[in-house]
Amino acid sequence: MIMRRAPPLRRAYVPLAARVALALAASASVVYADPDGAKIERGAAIYGDYCASCHGDGLRNTSGGATFDLRRLRPEDHDRFLNVVLNGKTQMPPWRGALKLEQIEAIWAYIRATIDR
Ligand code: HEC
Repeated sequence: MIMRRAPPLRRAYVPLAARVALALAASASVVYADPDGAKIERGAAIYGDYCASCHGDGLRNTSGGATFDLRRLRPEDHDRFLNVVLNGKTQMPPWRGALKLEQIEAIWAYIRATIDR
C-alpha cells in the first residue's frame, strides 16, 4: 500500500528539482549582466574626473544653460556625442588623445543608464 503512494511523491519531486535548476540559471544571468554594470561604473568615475566640473555632478547641470545639459541626449544622439567629445565645440574642449574611445563609450553607457533608468 505504501509502495502505491510512492510514484506520485516522485513526480512531485521532479518539478522541485526543475525549479532549483531554473533558479540557478536565473542567478547565472545576473553574473552575465555584470560587465555592463562595471562599464557604467567606470563611465561614472571618468565623467566625475573629466566632465562634472562643467556638466555638473551626476549629470545635474547647474550652469544655468551655459553648458549643454547631457540629460537631453537621446539614444540616437550617440554619433553626435562621440563627435563633440572627440573634437570639441566652442567652449567644450576636445578630448581626442586625452581619453580613449573605450573611456568615452563608458561615459556614454553611464549617461544612458542615468537617463533611461
Ligand atoms: C570646460 C568645461 C567643459 C568640460 C570639462 C566638458 N564640457 Fe562638454 N560642453 C561644454 C560646453 C560649454 C558645451 C556647450 C557647447 C556649445 O553648444 O557651444 C558642452 C557641450 C557638450 C556636449 C553637447 C554638444 C552638442 O551640442 O551636441 C556633449 C555631448 C558634451 N559636452 C560632453 C562632454 C563630456 C563627455 C565631457 C567629459 C569628457 C565634457 N563634455 C567636458 C563644456 C565642457
